[in-house]
Amino acid sequence: MKNLSWGFILLVFSAFLLNLDAFELRKGQKTERISGSAGDVLEDDPVGRLKVFVYELPSKYNKKILQKDPRCLNHMFAAEIYMHRFLLSSPVRTLNPEEADWFYTPVYTTCDLTPNGLPLPFKSPRMMRSAIQLISSNWPYWNRTEGADHFFIVPHDFGACFHYQEEKAIERGILPLLQRATLVQTFGQRNHVCLKEGSITVPPYAPPQKMQSHLIPPSIPRSIFVYFRGLFYDVGNDPEGGYYARGARAAVWENFKDNPLFDISTEHPTTYYEDMQRAVFCLCPLGWAPWSPRLVEAVIFGCIPVIIADDIVLPFADAIPWEDIGVFVDEKDVPNLDTILTSIPTEVILRKQRLLANPSMKQAMLFPHPAQPGDAFHQILNGLARKLPHDKSVYLRKGEKVLNWTAGPLADLKPW
Ligand SMILES: *[C@@H]1O[C@H](CO)[C@@H](O)[C@H](O)[C@H]1NC(C)=O
Ligand SMILES: *[C@@H]1O[C@H](CO)[C@@H](O)[C@H](O)[C@H]1NC(C)=O
Repeated sequence: MKNLSWGFILLVFSAFLLNLDAFELRKGQKTERISGSAGDVLEDDPVGRLKVFVYELPSKYNKKILQKDPRCLNHMFAAEIYMHRFLLSSPVRTLNPEEADWFYTPVYTTCDLTPNGLPLPFKSPRMMRSAIQLISSNWPYWNRTEGADHFFIVPHDFGACFHYQEEKAIERGILPLLQRATLVQTFGQRNHVCLKEGSITVPPYAPPQKMQSHLIPPSIPRSIFVYFRGLFYDVGNDPEGGYYARGARAAVWENFKDNPLFDISTEHPTTYYEDMQRAVFCLCPLGWAPWSPRLVEAVIFGCIPVIIADDIVLPFADAIPWEDIGVFVDEKDVPNLDTILTSIPTEVILRKQRLLANPSMKQAMLFPHPAQPGDAFHQILNGLARKLPHDKSVYLRKGEKVLNWTAGPLADLKPW
């Protein structure tokens, strides 16, 4: 019975590859318009729609930290650095804070890497507090709204909860001083204490030039059905199993390691980027956090992302119709992944591929340097512009205080 059904699946699969080859990949360029719940906004130009004031901070909050560890420039958290550089020379920047719609504080809170490159967020809360203390005592704008017209880039695993373990992150919650600010973060999960209403979820940083240099001709067929490279277990941090990826990655391995439709392994080959371009589906399961750079890579390489991360909120979710582009599989349904993917009709797959082929879709996932129209920087600005004008209620009465400066874990209150 089992063999029979595999034979059938392979038959369907090859028929469908032939289809792809004949109708889509040879032509290569067919695309489809991207329209999200906020409308056709990916190609909006933010210039003229908002003005941003960039606080000037001592270099110990940004440049000096980067000097100490240049690896931060290539890390998946690098958006905090590139966003700063981008804003400094952006036409939306204003030098006159009186006319600003938004205030930006350039702190590189995630640039603190262990020798093997893992970012540790233990100092981040103190550093963030210190920066806010500084701007609130040197300029009048913070006190006016206690941060409601300020935005912060917090690209750590669980955003401004500043911990890489979910339970600890939840226990900590969002740093109390950021309760009123708009947070621009990679973390996105519905009904989670680390994602507050009004935040902007962004893609993680993935190196644009490097990906560009691995592009292969679009005529090369997608002969891999499902592709994944990465950990299935994290024995070092989760020796008993079950916590890491809430068991979803382990389930992928245990159910499909011998399945010929699944090209999955922990080995990261040098042809990783090329392989994604030869695959129809790329698995994007949660790890410790729900998000990972795989989503960006899948979009850039036209591989349909299979999202396995319950309640995830994907980047620029009001501008990008992710439900049409990706495939969403509940964590509990991982054992049925083969049936789920093989039963998607060919027309549906082709449509997803056309959406992925849209250049504005790819552009929105990248932080290129120099910046380009429609890239992730511009999408962040568009998102901020769509929040304007600020509601009158964000402006506090003179002397009114809402935030509690002594709330949160005691260790966070120590000077930075
Ligand atoms: C903002 O309020 C704090 C007290 O909450 C005060 O110490 C600070 O001086 C105020 N900043 C300005 C610029 O007035
Ligand atoms: C601020 O938070 C601290 C610590 O949680 C608490 O003891 C204090 O009562 C709070 N202050 C106000 C005004 O809510």
